[in-house]
Amino acid sequence: MTAPRPTPRPLDTPEQERALDRYYMVGLACMLALIVAFPIYKMGEPARRERTLEAMREENITIGASMFAQHCAACHGDEARGGRGFPTLGAKEFLTSVSDKQLQWLVSGGIPGSAMVAYDLDLGGPFTAQEISRVVTYLRSLEEGAPSVPGWYRGEEAPARVLATVDTSTGATQESVAASGVPTDSVVVRVVAEEETERVYASRCAACHGASGEGTPIAPAVRPLSVALQANTDSVYSIIARGVTGTAMMPFAKERGGQLDGTAIRALAAWLHGSDPGVPR
Ligand code: HEC
Ligand code: HEC
Repeated sequence: MTAPRPTPRPLDTPEQERALDRYYMVGLACMLALIVAFPIYKMGEPARRERTLEAMREENITIGASMFAQHCAACHGDEARGGRGFPTLGAKEFLTSVSDKQLQWLVSGGIPGSAMVAYDLDLGGPFTAQEISRVVTYLRSLEEGAPSVPGWYRGEEAPARVLATVDTSTGATQESVAASGVPTDSVVVRVVAEEETERVYASRCAACHGASGEGTPIAPAVRPLSVALQANTDSVYSIIARGVTGTAMMPFAKERGGQLDGTAIRALAAWLHGSDPGVPR
């Protein structure tokens, strides 16, 4: 006698069927979410790529700048500003006359018969093509706002970088004057050169913020500025002008008992910003 086989339970009880339906619904919802999310993601794609490219460019500029300082500045001057008897590469006349490709060639191959040797590894130099392209990216970053140096080929020194130009009678900046339509040559302009600002920093700020702005136990680093401040010249201006209440950071604006006029403060703010790694000058 064989034992009767137990009757199999029906496959889909009503509960199982309901659970299965729930799974289908969840699956369908996920799929719909994906279908909707994908185009939205795609829409953000160019902006993301743009940001990534910009970040890469800034990194290349930073690396290129330090390569330039090490390998090229002895002849072409600090920050390519000349003054050493060799071509002033930061001159508008030079930068606007060469393409990136030509710059790449000049640096990789050098200029035969001159002190400008070849820098490409294949030609006995120290750099890979990628490293040379970083130096080229750095040089290109100097083009915007590059000073005119007619004697650039002889190595005439570029004039000091101008940090702020302000109408001393009204406090209007060059940009606001230009926007107002008043002819710029009718304005009394005070030009603040970089050297002047460096002196102001050394005498009024360095004691607390460190000789090169690296920060001290008393005060935070200001060169480079904190990420939050990098985004905003106005807030740096207002910190310097008004100080930070309740801290050792006192107000520096004349009208608040300090000794700096608006132009000097604007130049300081621009100078601190210019020190941010990667910010093209
Ligand atoms: C030992 C000095 C010296 C060093 C170091 C040097 N150069 Fe030069 N460079 C020269 C001279 C000299 C010339 C001009 C040659 C000529 O035209 O006869 C020149 C020209 C150039 C030019 C072309 C400018 C023109 O005349 O059209 C570029 C670009 C350049 N150098 C980039 C660089 C870079 C980038 C570096 C560092 C990787 C560098 N140089 C290092 C001496 C130097
Ligand atoms: C007596 C010391 C002292 C002097 C002098 C001084 N600072 Fe400061 N500074 C400070 C301190 C402390 C802070 C931080 C305040 C806080 O807690 O927010 C500060 C903050 C700042 C900040 C904001 C930094 C950040 O990341 O929040 C800037 C910008 C700044 N100082 C610029 C200057 C400049 C430019 C000068 C010269 C004109 C100067 N400071 C002079 C002490 C000083």
